[in-house]
Amino acid sequence: MAGRETHKNGSKYWRDSVNKGTETLPLHSVTPFEWGRAALADPVALLADHAFLEKKAAANALDLMTRWPGEWTPGWVETMTGVARDEASHLSQTVRLLTRRGGRMERGHRSSYAKALRLLVRKGGEDELLDRLLVSALIEVRSCERFAVLAAAAEDSELALFYKTLFSSEMGHYKVFLRLANQVAPSEIVEARWQYMLAAEARIMEQQAPGSRIHSGVS
Ligand SMILES: [Fe+2]
Ligand SMILES: [Fe+2]
Repeated sequence: MAGRETHKNGSKYWRDSVNKGTETLPLHSVTPFEWGRAALADPVALLADHAFLEKKAAANALDLMTRWPGEWTPGWVETMTGVARDEASHLSQTVRLLTRRGGRMERGHRSSYAKALRLLVRKGGEDELLDRLLVSALIEVRSCERFAVLAAAAEDSELALFYKTLFSSEMGHYKVFLRLANQVAPSEIVEARWQYMLAAEARIMEQQAPGSRIHSGVS
């Protein structure tokens, strides 16, 4: 009973700190705690979806690795390889939890959320890299928020700890992509585009169907 009480208090403490942490995020819509409970109804499906998210994040960082702006940008390759390494590590942790719980990695995965965000990228020219960095930052910041909610909502302590760790890591990535965006374009242009994208992301999120997925809608 004492242990249960401690867990409940710990969970409440984390929930309060999550609320404080996510309040400072720039997102234009807030994911309610109840979304976390609903998404965790099928943890294996959630982990299977999540594994693809990490795979795509690693592939995205590796692709951006050779797209530095101008002739050469010091630190660009190191930053992107660092993000790719983190995402590959998240992928391996996610797959380990998935397989241990009887799930498996599928061959393909569709995300209407990511697809809609990709449509925000202006193709060709100098705007493309800026938009790709901002879409990457958007996915990181929303994932960061979702992991915070999942960490607070998970009654399974292994999953709660896992999501808590990812919350901190994705918070770092979101800041990295925003910093790089400010290296490729003047700050006033970045800020205007970032605000436009944040508003678009909230609308896209609102259109998502509910379910056990990291970027599912709120029922
Ligand atoms: Fe990740
Ligand atoms: Fe990330």
